[in-house]
Amino acid sequence: MPRTRATLAVTGSTGALGGDVARLLADLEPRLIVRDASRAPSIAGSTLAVASYDDREASASALRGVDVLFMVSASESRTRREDHRTFIAAAASAGVGHLVYTSFAGAAEDATFTLGRDHHDAEAAIRESGMRFTLLRDNFYLDVLPFFADESGAIRGPAGQGRVAAVARADVADVAAVVLGAPEEHLDAAYELTGPEALTLDEVAARAGTVLGRDLRYVEETLDQAYGSRRAAYDVEQWQLDAWVSTYTAIADGSTARVTDDVERVVGRPARTLEQALGPAPAG
Ligand SMILES: NC(=O)c1ccc[n+]([C@@H]2O[C@H](COP(=O)([O-])OP(=O)(O)OC[C@H]3O[C@@H](n4cnc5c(N)ncnc54)[C@H](OP(=O)(O)O)[C@@H]3O)[C@@H](O)[C@H]2O)c1
Repeated sequence: MPRTRATLAVTGSTGALGGDVARLLADLEPRLIVRDASRAPSIAGSTLAVASYDDREASASALRGVDVLFMVSASESRTRREDHRTFIAAAASAGVGHLVYTSFAGAAEDATFTLGRDHHDAEAAIRESGMRFTLLRDNFYLDVLPFFADESGAIRGPAGQGRVAAVARADVADVAAVVLGAPEEHLDAAYELTGPEALTLDEVAARAGTVLGRDLRYVEETLDQAYGSRRAAYDVEQWQLDAWVSTYTAIADGSTARVTDDVERVVGRPARTLEQALGPAPAG
């Protein structure tokens, strides 16, 4: 007798990663769980449900009948941990069997990158929930690093000469698609997703600048300079400053330097390089 196909749900499809995953899995007719239906991507065969992570009732209702869930971590906010926990609890109560979560490489209670502590908390909630799970522990996104530059092309921060094994977002999407296509092969697994090499920010700036046709450079700041420059430019809360600055201190202290072959192990080809992640140089 043919097996009934699992019902798959994907969050974050109005964003970069969830959108890529939803498109890669279009054949599986995913249920897209979005906060705003008017911004949902148009994917033939997919269905829509509306819920925000902080709304337990709407989330449980959106997740009813779902077997496998791809949960993109929420945007950074003061209530992120709580919102993650609300959504994870809603998933468990709705009967979701397997949750695939985008975590962070080195997620830990005392992670240098302060948002890595949120991911540790989400991982703990997932483990406690009783659902089966797969954790995709992503390093920083390769294709986001050039956007750390200011208008003058300077990437400023206290990263010293530390290294970052950043991963292409497209590789995270490819790994997620393989896992979600055969979830029973990845039960309770944790993958640390990195690029093929660990780069200093000098190297990132030089190579990304060449690909993007921009004059990028890394300018090392002290910790005091990093807090001072951001405090002067933005009216934001301390947790936000800590998140921004600790992106660099995590690079400085080696937290982001480990290179793994997990992308290759899951998708069967090497991880994209910085040049492949950023695409060919613009013509002319
Ligand atoms: N490793 C890294 O370097 C790195 C860098 C950036 C981000 N991240 C993390 O990875 C995630 C995915 O990255 P991305 O580039 O795809 O980000 P993105 O383009 O900003 O997309 C985030 C998606 O998550 C949804 N979302 C955010 N908060 C939510 C909430 N509280 N409830 C329900 N949905 C929510 C957003 O919905 P709306 O469209 O309604 O806002 C959007 O669809 C980010 O959310 C962040 O947690 C990691």
